[in-house]
Amino acid sequence: MYTVPKLEDFSPAALDKAVQELLAAARQEADAIAGENAGKEFRDRWMARKNGVLTQINDLWLKAAPGPAKREVGARVNQLKTEVERIVDAAQSRLAGSSSAARFEAERIDVTLPGIHKAIGAEHPMLKTMNEVVSVFRAMGYSVADGPEVETDYFNFEALNFPPNHPARDTQDTLFVAGQEKKAQRDRLLLRTHTSPVQIRSMLKNPPPLRVVIPGKVHRADTADATHSPIFHQVEGLAVDTNITFSDLKGTLDHAMKSLFGSSMKTRFYPSFFPFTEPSADVQITCFKCGGKGCRLCKMSGWIELLGCGMVDPNVFKSVEQNGYDSQKISGFAFGMGVERITMLKYGIDDIQLFYQGDVRFLEQFA
Ligand code: PHE
Repeated sequence: MYTVPKLEDFSPAALDKAVQELLAAARQEADAIAGENAGKEFRDRWMARKNGVLTQINDLWLKAAPGPAKREVGARVNQLKTEVERIVDAAQSRLAGSSSAARFEAERIDVTLPGIHKAIGAEHPMLKTMNEVVSVFRAMGYSVADGPEVETDYFNFEALNFPPNHPARDTQDTLFVAGQEKKAQRDRLLLRTHTSPVQIRSMLKNPPPLRVVIPGKVHRADTADATHSPIFHQVEGLAVDTNITFSDLKGTLDHAMKSLFGSSMKTRFYPSFFPFTEPSADVQITCFKCGGKGCRLCKMSGWIELLGCGMVDPNVFKSVEQNGYDSQKISGFAFGMGVERITMLKYGIDDIQLFYQGDVRFLEQFA
């Protein structure tokens, strides 16, 4: 590293040589600097008031110069000061420049790149069907209601004209809450086996006329397999007014099925039984697969059974007569459909369990 020599010879030639050596050393050191700390050290080494190289040449060269040489030495020392300052400044700004350039580079944002895509998920196929069914009925002026999944025996059965021990209860294998033997039967809690109890709850809340759809989760003591699940979903419907007839029921459901499955679908009403409707029917629609010709899916009938329905039984109105439901004055129809079943038929899904497994490879096909 450069150290300031003591001068013996103050001739112009010797002075020039000393100046050249000093500047060469300064430039060399400046070129070798790397990093901000080294830059500060370099500046101190050359320019610090106390013992910096420039201070040293002041002492060792100018003050030590004999009288006649002072002019020559003074001029060179001034020249050196400007030049060294220039070298230090240049080094300093080179360092600042390169470190901010590095920072800018690291923080650089290319605003022309496409953004980071966040997967927002998609509606579950079953909920999609449920929402579709609900919106078909909303468009016809129905409101939407829901009710509790843990129900009383009264709302799930008795008010719907399933008397205690009636054999129709056997068609809905029921999960009862344990330890309620001390309660009266009508107060015992169970997991609702259908959404029909919300018919009663809706009529108790609102006097006629009434038009309501009820989407919801229901439970039955079924062993899980490709077509059964102990938890599944239904959409229920209820319309009550003066002069509601079976033709209204047929027209409404025919329209709904055409909206859901396509206008070429035909519907057929097949006699059936439910305690809370009389008469009752199963609605069948043209087989999706064969278009009515007969295939394995429709067991060669050309028809697929999709939902249960019927005219509200007067005994059901009796359960809510205190709220203006007088079966002499009003009538109504009700229907209920299984959402999983409809979704499976619609998309050709052959295993109901796929709805509950949360496998993204299955779900994303419906996104
Ligand atoms: N609740 C019946 C079931 O779960 C379906 C249904 C609803 C039938 C309304 C008629 C009227 O099987």
